[in-house]
Amino acid sequence: MRHFDFKDGEMFAENVALREIAQDVGTPCYVYSTATFERHYNVFADSFKGIDALVAYSVKANSNIAVLATLAKLGAGADVVSGGELARALTAGIPGSKIVFSGVGKTGDEMRAALRAGIRVFNVESLPELYVLNDAAKELGVKAPVAFRVNPDVSAGGHEKISTGKKENKFGIAWSQAEMAYAEAAKLSHINIVGVDVHIGSQIDELAPFEAAIAKCKDLISRLRAQGHEIKSFDIGGGLGIPYGDNSKTPPPPAEYGALVKRLTADMDVQMIFEPGRMIAGNAGVLLSKVLYVKKGEDRSFLIVDAAMNDLIRPALYEAYHEIEPVKAPGSAYSESTYDVVGPICESGDTFTKSRDLPEMEAGDLLVMHSVGAYGAAQASQYNTRPLIPEVLVKGELYEVIRERPTIAEILSHEHLPSWL
Ligand code: LLP
Repeated sequence: MRHFDFKDGEMFAENVALREIAQDVGTPCYVYSTATFERHYNVFADSFKGIDALVAYSVKANSNIAVLATLAKLGAGADVVSGGELARALTAGIPGSKIVFSGVGKTGDEMRAALRAGIRVFNVESLPELYVLNDAAKELGVKAPVAFRVNPDVSAGGHEKISTGKKENKFGIAWSQAEMAYAEAAKLSHINIVGVDVHIGSQIDELAPFEAAIAKCKDLISRLRAQGHEIKSFDIGGGLGIPYGDNSKTPPPPAEYGALVKRLTADMDVQMIFEPGRMIAGNAGVLLSKVLYVKKGEDRSFLIVDAAMNDLIRPALYEAYHEIEPVKAPGSAYSESTYDVVGPICESGDTFTKSRDLPEMEAGDLLVMHSVGAYGAAQASQYNTRPLIPEVLVKGELYEVIRERPTIAEILSHEHLPSWL
């Protein structure tokens, strides 16, 4: 069931009219549905019922602490990639024992913070990083739990900017160097090898790449065990795609993904770790925006809206498709127009879509862009000195602002004139 849908002629988020949120909070803003986060988390977690599994939600997809706390209540752990994300996860009540730390460029300070928090595992991506981690753990008098992120050289569809599992990508330990890396780690005094980690990409719309990556890692884990390493956990990352409402392939449902993983790993005697991001958050959010102007050009019509590429960069960055709908339901005999939907930023790339057939709209009309709960607010910037937009969380009839819009004065207060001016 969709939690963003028309009721009585207008679009609701659960039981709250988006018109009401727009009036109260102002546009543009992100609106999230608690019921959708919960359903997606539960569908994902349920597909691993009966096996030892940790669902470590990938914080980068949507890192608002209210979202993290919503998921924490359901039992979610967290996959973090920075000291900032670690602080968010801990603030939201996710215990260190359920936090995994990924990323190619962890700093010593970030490692120390994670060690102090007693995180579950560091997904280490290079030997130089391993040595820094060993030193950090030594300094604190602890042992760092480590899995190497290995690069299985598997092609995983998706946009080239979000494919990570090929050998030309910067991610993971090269396949041919994996055993050497484990041997090296075993020699270090403050490293405790606990697992193997892999993540091959994002918005993956078929099961075959997961199958290929798991098969390769399974083989590697057998060899590592034969070499005397104790491999307790196997993290297969995130990456499962979601439907965006365009004509691209519909990704497999989580239950099919779960069944595949269970079948392939049944005899491995490992604890499974998953790092889903988009699958949990993507369809739990809309971007609510207002038409500022309708500009009829020589051969195109532009809907100039108050949201822009700084608020949602996915179309500009990945040519991403987001379904667009008016908040007021079009009547039965509405007329359509073909629009380019654009924001106010001074770049042609500030275009959400080109030549989209939409119900005819006027200045002042509200519209939503769907499926922006993941990598929407999390990738926003203040380009053109446009303040970060508010985030609103809905739960049934209730809604609250979970991130406020900063004032221009607050933004400027972080900047200073040097002494010579
Ligand atoms: N684990 C690791 C190590 C990752 O790098 C990522 C995503 C995830 C898990 C979660 O992947 P997901 O389940 O969300 O596919 N900004 C892009 C997506 C970038 C994904 C980066 N890594 C977008 O808007 O499509």
